Amino acid sequence: MAESYETLLVEIRDGVAIVTLNRPKALNALNATVMTELVAALKGFQADAAIGAVLLTGSEKAFAAGADIKEMQGLDFVDAYLGDFISGWDGVGAFRKPLIAAVAGFALGGGCELAMMCDFIIAADTARFGQPEITLGIIPGMGGTQRLTRAVGKAKAMDLCLTGRMMDAAEAERCGLVARVVPYERLLDEAVEAAHKIAGFSQPAVGMAKEAVDRAFEQTLSEGLRFERRLFHSLFATDDQKEGMAAFIEKRRAVFKNR
Ligand code: HXC
Repeated sequence: MAESYETLLVEIRDGVAIVTLNRPKALNALNATVMTELVAALKGFQADAAIGAVLLTGSEKAFAAGADIKEMQGLDFVDAYLGDFISGWDGVGAFRKPLIAAVAGFALGGGCELAMMCDFIIAADTARFGQPEITLGIIPGMGGTQRLTRAVGKAKAMDLCLTGRMMDAAEAERCGLVARVVPYERLLDEAVEAAHKIAGFSQPAVGMAKEAVDRAFEQTLSEGLRFERRLFHSLFATDDQKEGMAAFIEKRRAVFKNR
């Protein structure tokens, strides 16, 4: 049984948790409740061995239109600094299982940053991405200047962060922000299919693949290659490696046990 939340809908389907942001009147603006609930839900999925992948999505109109401006409006510097405002969101980036964003409509500001905290983004042709914080007199605060720059390069990141303009799904795919673009009607099926596929593989291998790709953004090539090689070697200690290779040779489907 999935937990119930005020701002999220959660459905568990065959090893995949589907989390839908659910603040429709505010275009899924990310307030403290959404983020607290999301981080708590992810914590639960982390501890649940039956969950192999998580899908995060929003509505047809908005994945999320940003951090909640009404909630932030009255904040002052000292409160933001001493309270370490939004540091709780780091819990999303720290999630260790695969996390896929399925984005339709607006993914702006914190919404775009939340999508970028996921491992990859599948976008509907209706998706629009942007970092409009500059129009509010602030800058991105949850990776918009860092993850976006790594994903799309300096020119496009500067363009988006300095002008606050939105880009459509085709442009987002061209510049490498999103992994795939599909018609809106196909979005959830395509993302669920991808999540199911991942959830069917060996969890230790999946976890290490995620960790190794993430390392590419943290260290030099030679250190990254060494890290990858060590993880690669370690997977030969798993039963799942034996099973995966035996299944290939015996021309059958592998049944992984996550051991
Ligand atoms: C609070 C928001 C909101 C937001 C929309 N709403 N975005 N409320 N915070 N980020 C609310 C509106 O106030 C409105 O509520 C309702 O959602 C519908 O929005 P409309 O503006 O009427 O819809 P539309 O005309 O279709 O325009 C859609 C939109 C626009 C282009 C997405 O809403 C917009 O520009 N939103 C703000 C986008 C933004 O600046 N995001 C960055 C936020 S800063 P009412 O009650 O009036 O009906 C940020 C900082 C991140 O994210 C830092 C780290 C986390």
